[in-house]
Amino acid sequence: MARLKLGVLISGRGSNLQALIAACAETTYPAEIVLVLANKPDAMGLEHAREAGIATAVVEHGDFPDRESFDKAVHAQLKDADVEWVCLAGYMRLLSSWFVETWNDRIINIHPSLLPAFKGIDAHAQAIAAGVKLSGCTVHIVRTEMDAGPILVQAAVPLLPDDTEDSLAARILTVEHQCYPLAVRLIAEGRVQIDGDTAIVVMPPDIGDQIISPPQS
Ligand code: GAR
Repeated sequence: MARLKLGVLISGRGSNLQALIAACAETTYPAEIVLVLANKPDAMGLEHAREAGIATAVVEHGDFPDRESFDKAVHAQLKDADVEWVCLAGYMRLLSSWFVETWNDRIINIHPSLLPAFKGIDAHAQAIAAGVKLSGCTVHIVRTEMDAGPILVQAAVPLLPDDTEDSLAARILTVEHQCYPLAVRLIAEGRVQIDGDTAIVVMPPDIGDQIISPPQS
């Protein structure tokens, strides 16, 4: 079976990229990463890609007069690499509507909250300030509105009374690393049907149907 060709866009550390690299290393996994592209030359994730023998590219946003011309340069790299789906993995750039429309329903993003709660860059701080007892992560199809679009996979973790942004971020990251490879697998196996603003997802039997309500202390 042909594997789905992924382009992963990053800006920094790249731990979600590492989770995808590890998943793609399994021979039965239905996707492969054909390009890792960063908007910063010092993005740590580029090193992970190089170590795994994956092609990398850097397109620096400072080199372009506006968002759309930058996105067109990114698009050209993705097309050159035969990318079929784009995975945003800690990519801290807003996408132009031109890019989102060109890659319509073929871009996914991971966000460290249970969307639609706590959109934006300070999701952990927002969750702590709101006093929620559960937070988590969301993998969703990207639409022009930031951190919005049909939801594919979510996972919850407890938010504990003494949590800091860092401790909550670390706990959420552990489930991010499970959810992102799962979401890609669902797409690659044809288990996702997008219906307007929502997605119908047929979970494989090996995932089970657990909804975990964890202890609060
Ligand atoms: C992750 O927590 C991801 O959910 C978040 O940035 C981090 C990147 O970590 N993304 C966003 O906040 C997007 N709105 P990583 O570089 O180690 O994957």
